[in-house]
Amino acid sequence: MNKRIIAAAVSLILLAGCAGGTKDTAVTTNTVNTVQDAQVSETEAAAPETETAETEAAEGDASAETSLSDSDAPYIYEDFTSDTAIMGRGPATAEIVDDDKASDGKALYISGRTDAWNGAQYDSEIFRGNEIEVSGSFRSGNSNVKVTIQFDILGNTTYNPIFAVKTNEDSYSKGSGKFKVPDNAENILVYIESDNTGDIYTDDISVKVVGEYKKFDKPAGLAYVDTSDYPSLKELYSEQFLIGTCINPKVIATPEYSELVKAQFSSVTCENDMKPESLLDRTESISDLDKYQESPAINFDRARDELDFARDNGIKLRAHTLVWHSQTPDWLFYKDYDTSGELADRELMLKRMENYIKSVMEWTNENYPGLIYAWDVVNEAIDDGGGIRKSLWYETIGDDYIYKAFEFARKYAPADAKLFYNDYNSYMLKKQSDILEYIRPVAEAGNIDGIGMQSHLNTDVSLSLYFIAMKRYYEELGLEIQVTELDIGRKGQDNWRDVQGEYYRDYMKRLIEAKNEGIPVTCVTVWGLSDGMSWRANELPLLFDADLSRKPAFDGMAEAAE
Ligand code: XIL
Repeated sequence: MNKRIIAAAVSLILLAGCAGGTKDTAVTTNTVNTVQDAQVSETEAAAPETETAETEAAEGDASAETSLSDSDAPYIYEDFTSDTAIMGRGPATAEIVDDDKASDGKALYISGRTDAWNGAQYDSEIFRGNEIEVSGSFRSGNSNVKVTIQFDILGNTTYNPIFAVKTNEDSYSKGSGKFKVPDNAENILVYIESDNTGDIYTDDISVKVVGEYKKFDKPAGLAYVDTSDYPSLKELYSEQFLIGTCINPKVIATPEYSELVKAQFSSVTCENDMKPESLLDRTESISDLDKYQESPAINFDRARDELDFARDNGIKLRAHTLVWHSQTPDWLFYKDYDTSGELADRELMLKRMENYIKSVMEWTNENYPGLIYAWDVVNEAIDDGGGIRKSLWYETIGDDYIYKAFEFARKYAPADAKLFYNDYNSYMLKKQSDILEYIRPVAEAGNIDGIGMQSHLNTDVSLSLYFIAMKRYYEELGLEIQVTELDIGRKGQDNWRDVQGEYYRDYMKRLIEAKNEGIPVTCVTVWGLSDGMSWRANELPLLFDADLSRKPAFDGMAEAAE
């Protein structure tokens, strides 16, 4: 009973915290599962927080009234025996149902999930700046249910795991975790998701403040931290390797980011804007099939600003990527560029491959002579399950497409540009053997200069294994090595920033050792600037926080060079 009253009160607190309106009506809907419903509820619930809490509590249990009126701290407890402020996330719906396995016979049933991130969410603006402890119980077939917090800082959305719990269909599994919400966060949501799309029964959700509650009405000083006194990685490593990051339109258009890039990095890679989907122009290609059937039209509008940025600031550029199964439009592989028709045959696809590589290389060489020092010619061609990936490049050309891509790239690349094969998990034994098998003939033909080890790692990956693999690439192929997309996701909850910092430091120390032993490592590129911008944002894998504060990860990388 006590629980239920607090739950009702807190639903109102949460809603009152994020919207204005009149105080006339109470929340009456049992299920708040669409944006539209939520908006109605927000209008309905507008009392000042403590007053709402007291009013609601007074109708029920005296101890709830006391605990809430004693403190301004918001406290969510939902056993789903009364209304809830939890809403569906994405296309999912969240509704209260009878469930005899739940503590009070009621549960929140989340269904209609079509993606792992779909689920149910709370507006949690009220917790800004506070440390929270979140717990909940879940029932879902053979899954891993996660409670995550999402917020924006400076326009970047960050997703941080709070806890995860292994679940089964038959009984509820409980989990809990703590998280300190930054005081400059906006649009804060605590949400439930899982690693599959199965339905999730939820019970006994609680979110409470750890320690003294401080209320932050608005993001406190939405500002980047001053990064000008950070030691410069590119200077610290100038004797060893280029130090790179990836850039995107937001990075180059935001002075705080672009200044940091200029201060810290000696190499950049376009995160997305030199991928085939960014350069290939279907409208132009189909406008004149006589002209473009064998040579698809390209358009550099998306990449131009990033290329200008690199050139104008004297930063070298890794070009990423020419031949890839992903971020490459399907229409490229069809006759007349028409996906409702037939796949193009080998002969036509070889022509298109050659001409695409030729056009991209000629255009960049003409417009940005000398800027590009390395090309990822083929990306991720080996299947995780072993062997060559069954991509549309493979389907149309056959398994010599890797060899052919390098042959064409060598033909058109300027003499001083290095050609790379690039892949993830390239330190894993099986994948490495497959890469070696396909790349050996390319190396023998003299058409490749290096292996790109993407290096999307986490703090559990064995560095010994990783560096043995690096050495083997060099010894067996005689090629140079670049670390092309480094990010190191965290593992575990406790002390993870320090653990990650140590890992970055050890990683860089071993990289320096490898270089000193004669392995020609020439560049280390970190895949993104801040955790808020990372493609793995929920694993917080990079050197800077979203507001550009330096993390132990940055310090670890800097220390290794000293
Ligand atoms: C990622 C980008 O970071 C994302 O912005 C994009 O949505 C997907 O691609 N391997 C690669 C990179 O070679 O191109 C990928 O980059 C990450 C994995």
